[in-house]
Amino acid sequence: MNILVYPHEILAKPAEDVTDINQELITTIDEMTKTMYEAKGLGLAGNQVGLLKKIFIMDVAQKEGTNDLIVLINPLIVAKEGDVSAEEGCLSVPEYFAEVKRAERILVEAFDQTGKPLRFEAEGLMARCIQHEIDHLMGHCFIDRLSPLKRSLFRKKWSKIKGKED
Ligand code: NI
Repeated sequence: MNILVYPHEILAKPAEDVTDINQELITTIDEMTKTMYEAKGLGLAGNQVGLLKKIFIMDVAQKEGTNDLIVLINPLIVAKEGDVSAEEGCLSVPEYFAEVKRAERILVEAFDQTGKPLRFEAEGLMARCIQHEIDHLMGHCFIDRLSPLKRSLFRKKWSKIKGKED
């Protein structure tokens, strides 16, 4: 599976609700999982692999084979509290990191890959990661969260990073 790189147009499109958890989706989740661990990411959203469905996977421990992998389908943040800034990166924006302000604690509703409804609180890195991935599902990259000044600095740096590859 290829990870789409910013500013790919699919990264800017909102994903649609998952209406059926079928074998095709389960296979896709398995492939996304392999791709995420290979890329050493904390999370991977549908948009990032060209799938415009509200689904993302996450493992903030980054340990393949343990039971820390979380699959969230049609996730929704139903409450949030506090503000905290910390550095973020993204598999779709390789080699670039920036401080992003996020809610400190969130209450999340979603379904897991078996269709079981979930409702849980998250904080710290997990809360940050969930907010980052839900942004992807709404067609936003963490770059969109930067101030206009930081975004213009990003564009300069990004054209250099991209230039290296050509
Ligand atoms: Ni990302």
